[in-house]
Amino acid sequence: MLNLFNKEEKLSDLKVPHHIGVIMDGNGRWAKKRLQPRVMGHKAGMDALQAVTIAASKLGVKVLTVYAFSTENWSRPEDEVRFIMKLPVEFFDKYVPELNRNNVRIQIMGETNRLPKDTLEAMERAIAQTSENTGLILNFALNYGGRAELTLAMQAIAEQVKTGQLEPCDITETIISQHLMTASLPMDYRDPDLIIRTSGEERLSNFLPWQAAYSEFYFTEVLWPDFKEAELEQAIRDYSSRHRRFGGI
Ligand code: FPP
Repeated sequence: MLNLFNKEEKLSDLKVPHHIGVIMDGNGRWAKKRLQPRVMGHKAGMDALQAVTIAASKLGVKVLTVYAFSTENWSRPEDEVRFIMKLPVEFFDKYVPELNRNNVRIQIMGETNRLPKDTLEAMERAIAQTSENTGLILNFALNYGGRAELTLAMQAIAEQVKTGQLEPCDITETIISQHLMTASLPMDYRDPDLIIRTSGEERLSNFLPWQAAYSEFYFTEVLWPDFKEAELEQAIRDYSSRHRRFGGI
């Protein structure tokens, strides 16, 4: 905890997590506090995402996986869902040029076949436009649910057992990991080292349940649209002061 308040410690001395997962929560409450419609919170949340991505990239983070839309979010009011689905279209026009200048590469994971066509097309454009970049990977979890991800992985593995490609005793943690949606990330960075959740909620909410087995957690009362570079630095200072044992001593 001491490090958290030690302003003298240089950022360059910190242990920076390679992969950060973010549950961007509190957009609705942020808007409500300002007597604005909930969707304005999502718009402001997108600005925060841009700021955090650039800051993370400058700090040397390799992967930032953001929970943009869960498989459970379809139960929100139709207008709100429609608005959130339009965000990638706006994101592409407004933010991708700056991400490109910062060498950021965009990826998506989730059941993307259920996304509206224009949402998917916008994301695919962003992926194509940034595919040559070698810096931070901004990985959108879009229509993502951890249990659905594990279910799909189990179905694919069972299919391989059925066709005789795999024996049940050959199913290892590595095989399972290779069938998860994070398999498209560089091998050393598939599991998040740190998971941040904003807005005072302290739950995983079906976000990366397998991959989070050894993650550190950072919870803050700050609402997502207010989470910017300084808040990210604070989360990393906190992480840097921890000792991860992975079951050892
Ligand atoms: C949770 O806050 C936030 C979401 C469900 C949406 C998050 C999306 C963004 C920040 C934009 C992502 C950008 C792209 C390009 C897809 P909440 O609505 O649950 O807030 P509340 O708990 O205060 O109601």
